[in-house]
Amino acid sequence: MTKYPVRYVQTLRGGTAHVILFSDGKEYVVKWFDTKKGREKEVVNEYLIGKLAELLSLPVIPFDLVYIPEDFIKKTPELQSTKHNYSSGYQYGCVFIKNSTVFENVRENPPTKTDVKNRDMLAGITVFDQWVNNSDRGTMNVILENLSDGGYYVHMIDHGRVFPGRYQWSAQTLSETPVYNYHWPFYKWAFSLLDDHKELTSFIEKIVKLPNKSIYQVIESIPKEWNVKTKDRDALYKFLLEQKNKLPEIVERIIQHHSNPK
Ligand SMILES: Nc1ncnc2c1ncn2[C@@H]1O[C@H](COP(=O)(O)OP(=O)(O)O)[C@@H](O)[C@H]1O
Ligand SMILES: [Mg+2]
Repeated sequence: MTKYPVRYVQTLRGGTAHVILFSDGKEYVVKWFDTKKGREKEVVNEYLIGKLAELLSLPVIPFDLVYIPEDFIKKTPELQSTKHNYSSGYQYGCVFIKNSTVFENVRENPPTKTDVKNRDMLAGITVFDQWVNNSDRGTMNVILENLSDGGYYVHMIDHGRVFPGRYQWSAQTLSETPVYNYHWPFYKWAFSLLDDHKELTSFIEKIVKLPNKSIYQVIESIPKEWNVKTKDRDALYKFLLEQKNKLPEIVERIIQHHSNPK
């Protein structure tokens, strides 16, 4: 049987992410479909990026489509909002990592190479973010899970703002020239922990080799309830394929930028 929501736990900073306990005994961070005006692709993006990152073995938090019935919304005061719309149906939910802190809290004195258990994934996150034109890898959108040995595991979170057009992408916005965001503190830190620039270039290969059929299947699997038009799905498929070819040049720019900090 699919899991169902048992108890509302808390609202996270920002107000759009809600922690809810489910019948499988786990707490999930739930982000609602179409809750804010002008953000109809936010949760679609969370889902797409989660799926694509999984295919590339990047550290997205395990996630699922979670069904929230009407009666749960009705009995939960936190979901009675006049500003936002909380409808029943399938939402995006990822596991709540309790023992974690945002990168923002450590940016002044960030973990060293040996502190980060999955350091080898940082180059991949950097290149992947360019592929999908992520414009939101701020210091609040990376969390560090505290491990029992004192080390950290880096998790990528919050993938609502990706692709040209961001929360509202469409076939039309996807045809615009992307503006790339690789200057940000997280990327600077990731770059400083690389063994070799080859870590970046070899991840390009990994993305290029990701079968186009797998990308197609991910786009096909967007829940029908989320109303992504066939025209937009087709345009996204085309965009992701074309973006593969842009990666060598962007990675070259990343290397130039972070090797010669101003
Ligand atoms: N899976 C998670 N585990 C632990 N904390 C999380 C998780 N997801 C989000 N958070 C926390 O909640 C904050 C808001 O979540 P986020 O997905 O970034 O939503 P928003 O779109 O509002 O920025 C994050 O900055 C982080 O502190
Ligand atoms: Mg965020």
